Amino acid sequence: MRPQWVIGNWKMNGGLAANQALLAGVLDAARLVGSVRIGVSAPFPYLLQCQQMLGESSVVWGAQDISAEIGGAFTGEVSGAMLSDFDCGIVIVGHSERRIYHGESEGRVAEKALRAVENGMRPVFCIGETQAQHDAGETEAVLARQLSPLFVLLNDTRLAMVIVAYEPVWAIGTGKTPTPEGAQAVHRFIRTQLAAHGLADTLPVIYGGSVKPDNAARFFAQPDIDGGLIGGASLDAAEFLAIVKAAQ
Ligand code: G3P
Repeated sequence: MRPQWVIGNWKMNGGLAANQALLAGVLDAARLVGSVRIGVSAPFPYLLQCQQMLGESSVVWGAQDISAEIGGAFTGEVSGAMLSDFDCGIVIVGHSERRIYHGESEGRVAEKALRAVENGMRPVFCIGETQAQHDAGETEAVLARQLSPLFVLLNDTRLAMVIVAYEPVWAIGTGKTPTPEGAQAVHRFIRTQLAAHGLADTLPVIYGGSVKPDNAARFFAQPDIDGGLIGGASLDAAEFLAIVKAAQ
């Protein structure tokens, strides 16, 4: 039995005061539902607050991006070593909002995953197809292409640190979702890609895209879905708790 994960991706939301209340809610969720692995991906300025508030708990925290560079003259970038200073345990890489709005290539995303692992963090490696790709029946080809640089850059020991997040771009923030069975079939396909590395049965593969309290349990009940990466609903402590409970 693989553990279930529920990771909140706060995106560019939050503030010191609002986070205080939200993190208190995340701590409650962790206390109430000990069997679920809970994570928070916060904007960079709030990592210290996460470290201070979550440090004594079972909750893991981290950032939403990491530089592919090691350090030096890269204005605006944040390195893996810097994230380690705040005890980050996870970092999102390759979210579609970064691939689309910031032109992150498939190779670049894999380099970021490597930097995360080198610095002791688990990369939450996001993959997913657009609506047009979905409609054209290209989902599996797109996912295979997004995963392939990861298999080149990370040896199997390093790959074992990865958490794969399947996020169909057309389901993010839209209220539209695949059926749980449809998502299950895609997760199964992702596991076939992991099989060559001996990780098909062990790597967490989580689902993201309009997961809400009223649909979470149906996704999490699928055999190859190991929890969720939650956007909008992670900003509301009650909704986040309900989703964590759905994962237990
Ligand atoms: O990374 C989480 C995500 O992109 C899904 O966002 O708001 O549809 O849950 P949301």
